[in-house]
Amino acid sequence: MRIIVENVEKQYGPRYVLRGVNFNVEPGETLVIMGGSGCGKSTLLRVLCGIEKPTAGAVTYNGEDIVTLSEGGMDRLRKRWGFCFQGGALFGSMTVGENVAYPIREHALLDEKVIDIMVKMKLDMVGLTGFGDLYPSQISGGMVKRVALARAMALDPEVLFMDEPSAGLDPVMSAAIDQLILDLTKKTKITTILVTHEMKSAFSVADRMVLLHGGVVVAEGKPETFRTTADPLIRQFIDGLADGPIPLRRNRDEYLKSMIGN
Ligand SMILES: Nc1ncnc2c1ncn2[C@@H]1O[C@H](COP(=O)(O)OP(=O)(O)O)[C@@H](O)[C@H]1O
Ligand SMILES: [Mg+2]
Repeated sequence: MRIIVENVEKQYGPRYVLRGVNFNVEPGETLVIMGGSGCGKSTLLRVLCGIEKPTAGAVTYNGEDIVTLSEGGMDRLRKRWGFCFQGGALFGSMTVGENVAYPIREHALLDEKVIDIMVKMKLDMVGLTGFGDLYPSQISGGMVKRVALARAMALDPEVLFMDEPSAGLDPVMSAAIDQLILDLTKKTKITTILVTHEMKSAFSVADRMVLLHGGVVVAEGKPETFRTTADPLIRQFIDGLADGPIPLRRNRDEYLKSMIGN
């Protein structure tokens, strides 16, 4: 699936979060959206998958603009998409297996036996064979993320959206989830859009990356380009430096002014 994001703007009242975002996602690639906390990554992802309407711009999937697409058209596309959102919340009252079965039941009319087999396959895929009858409260944080991933992949999506899929895990668990994401997205050639503020994750899963700052894409390229760039803003972000062009302390009035569009 080829995704083209053109001049996407999002305003909440007078506040601009996105001021004209542009980038493409090529079929089968993993595009990582990076940026500091509060820069609008989750907002952008919600716009990209049609949960929120942008205030301006277009988001096209193989030529279809979802901003102007009908509800019916949206439903048709959504059936082919998988979601793994921030918090990765599983339904606490459902077992692991029921969680993975949820999107299957929602989108496809299938025999219980078939659903059972599909759930088992997806749990195998994330290394959780035999965990289907446990409840989310009975498994570790890393396992919860794996189940969220299995659920996102339940219907073999064409496009996968992920918001901070390894957030809140210790570094080892986080690396394991990144590795799993890399394995799954490469094996299946799913077109993936992944949002993260963690550089290590970004570099381990990305085919290409964009850096979101001040409501626009300030840099775009292959991980190698980001690793070797001398651009002070990108360097500050990648190296996690306190000193650089990104101001950490700001005057209140200037801050408020910067949030309003010109
Ligand atoms: N529904 C909303 N209403 C008003 N402001 C919002 C809403 N959602 C997000 N924001 C604001 O938009 C900015 C970007 O938020 P978000 O997209 O969650 O950032 P990120 O995911 O990069 O941390 C934040 O300042 C946030 O407070
Ligand atoms: Mg976010």
